[in-house]
Amino acid sequence: MKLNIVCIPGDGIGPEIVAQAKKVLDKVGEVFGHEMNYTDILMGGASIDAYGVPLTDEAIATAKAADAVLMGSIGGDTNTSPWYKLPPEKRPEAGLLGIRKALNLFANLRPAVLYPELKGACPLKEEISGKGFDLLIMRELTGGLYFGERKTVTENGMKKAIDTLTYTEEEIRRIAVKGFDIAMKRRKKVTSVDKANVLDSSRLWRAVVNEVAKDYPEVTLEHMLVDNCAMQLVRDPSQFDVVLTENMFGDILSDEASMVTGSIGMLSSASLNDTKFGLYEPSHGSAPDIAGKDLANPIATILSASMMLRYSFDLDKEADAVDAAVDRVLKEGFRTGDIYTEGCEKLGCNAMGDRIAERIVA
Ligand code: IPM
Ligand code: MG
Repeated sequence: MKLNIVCIPGDGIGPEIVAQAKKVLDKVGEVFGHEMNYTDILMGGASIDAYGVPLTDEAIATAKAADAVLMGSIGGDTNTSPWYKLPPEKRPEAGLLGIRKALNLFANLRPAVLYPELKGACPLKEEISGKGFDLLIMRELTGGLYFGERKTVTENGMKKAIDTLTYTEEEIRRIAVKGFDIAMKRRKKVTSVDKANVLDSSRLWRAVVNEVAKDYPEVTLEHMLVDNCAMQLVRDPSQFDVVLTENMFGDILSDEASMVTGSIGMLSSASLNDTKFGLYEPSHGSAPDIAGKDLANPIATILSASMMLRYSFDLDKEADAVDAAVDRVLKEGFRTGDIYTEGCEKLGCNAMGDRIAERIVA
């Protein structure tokens, strides 16, 4: 099969980690007989430096023409980078929001898994982490506060800022369907998270999720208020399978869930639309402080490439081979600095990519 993949190396550690993911994909191609065809585009700071804007129409068109997009990370140090002196719509993050909207990537899958080998990094007490956990946050990505009307006005000499939180039934239904579909492939539990005791948008959310649930009698559905969910994620993350939620709550809860694993350098993500098309990226940021030093952990990006094989190309065997190769290097004791513990062997970004690629087998 021929895989047309657009790559966005991006900023900071982005180019290094994407290079490792390509290395692993190339090995998958060799072992399983697929042709990888990559096209790079610029986004974020790299695009600002080259074109003055964080995302060009040409870049969007190139991405649209591909089967899937593999991204590293974008953005720089918000205190020191000149990119953050630009108006908000010209900053690196506007590129990311722009591509999500332009490609209609409304479903954001963010797994948070506690790897047995990395339990030591989990900041929770042993009595909680001992049970392990494997949850997935299904975050709505193109609606809500992020894309509602916003403005700052002056009334009677007083500035006033307004952001609007809007959801239509249709926007809720399509993400709920994705949430239930994925739950069917996992442990068949959906926790829908909202703030229905206060917000109208949450009350509609709850009603539509209940309707969708009727089509999935095998899936257990529970509703949870977002503040309670934030608490439950540290009290007992093992209770969760799929956490289904709106854009802003998902942004916050997914950072919390990744912190709870203690190894954000391991967490992948996928942003999907209604077709097989998706954008795949690590859950972590661009880490400008370690960029270019061969210190970054490429595993989250490699696992994102695995999600790409699984969701955009239906290559489950190939994706399993990537996941198994990652498991093997961890079992063999290889670690990048961020997940290093005594007695393990410390590797740089490039060597970690090599080790994983070498372990891809059919
Ligand atoms: C994320 C990030 C983005 C978001 C930022 C960079 C705009 O925090 O992907 O979670 O808020 O969605
Ligand atoms: Mg975020």
